[in-house]
Amino acid sequence: MVEPGAFHYKPQGKLNDFPPEETEKEEARVDEIFVREYRLLKQIFNLKHPTILYPACGFDISLSEVFPDSHTYYVDTDPNAIAALRRAGLPENTTHIILQSAYDFKPPMPIDLVVLRNPTTDKYDIVGLVRGLKAGGYVVESHWGCSGGSRDLLKNLNFNLIGHFIHDKKLGTAFYTNAERISRILSRDKGVISKHAGSGYVFQKK
Ligand SMILES: C[S@@+](CC[C@H](N)C(=O)[O-])C[C@H]1O[C@@H](n2cnc3c(N)ncnc32)[C@H](O)[C@@H]1O
Repeated sequence: MVEPGAFHYKPQGKLNDFPPEETEKEEARVDEIFVREYRLLKQIFNLKHPTILYPACGFDISLSEVFPDSHTYYVDTDPNAIAALRRAGLPENTTHIILQSAYDFKPPMPIDLVVLRNPTTDKYDIVGLVRGLKAGGYVVESHWGCSGGSRDLLKNLNFNLIGHFIHDKKLGTAFYTNAERISRILSRDKGVISKHAGSGYVFQKK
């Protein structure tokens, strides 16, 4: 039988002498679906060394996989994401990793391609995010199957919808350029196109 009060714990050292808990750092990553889209885009539009802006990039470095020699601006407000990108060993002379709100960042050179993937900015002012894009430049936009951003660009007279990526387990990745049909789907839907979740819409600035 255990008597109450029979056991004592005599603290040895201070509480904070415990070894720090191992916390795993989140590292930069490449998304296979995004890579497929960029490869197709590069091929179809003959993009050799586009200057790229990726606002709200998070930990995603897929662009550098396909465009390793391009000047690419990765912009995010999350210090952990920015630190992970800096650890990723991307080419130093062409990769620009910027800790700043995407709405405040002004690209120092004209941009050929803006990529918008699931930004969680407090407002979603898509036109503000594509600032710096030159005439004839492209926007790839995807938002977890929600088409809000794409519909904003569709309504914007400065942009033409030129195509949509569809990923199929069997057929692989395709780029559909039937913009009229896509426009119809986009303007009809109420903001969510679950069938096409994650697939990028491509716009061109007039
Ligand atoms: C869901 S993550 C998407 C990351 C990446 N684009 C992807 O699809 O994997 C959303 C990102 O938006 C970033 N973000 C939120 N507000 C921002 C702002 N004002 N400027 C830049 N980045 C912002 C967050 O820090 C976060 O990394």
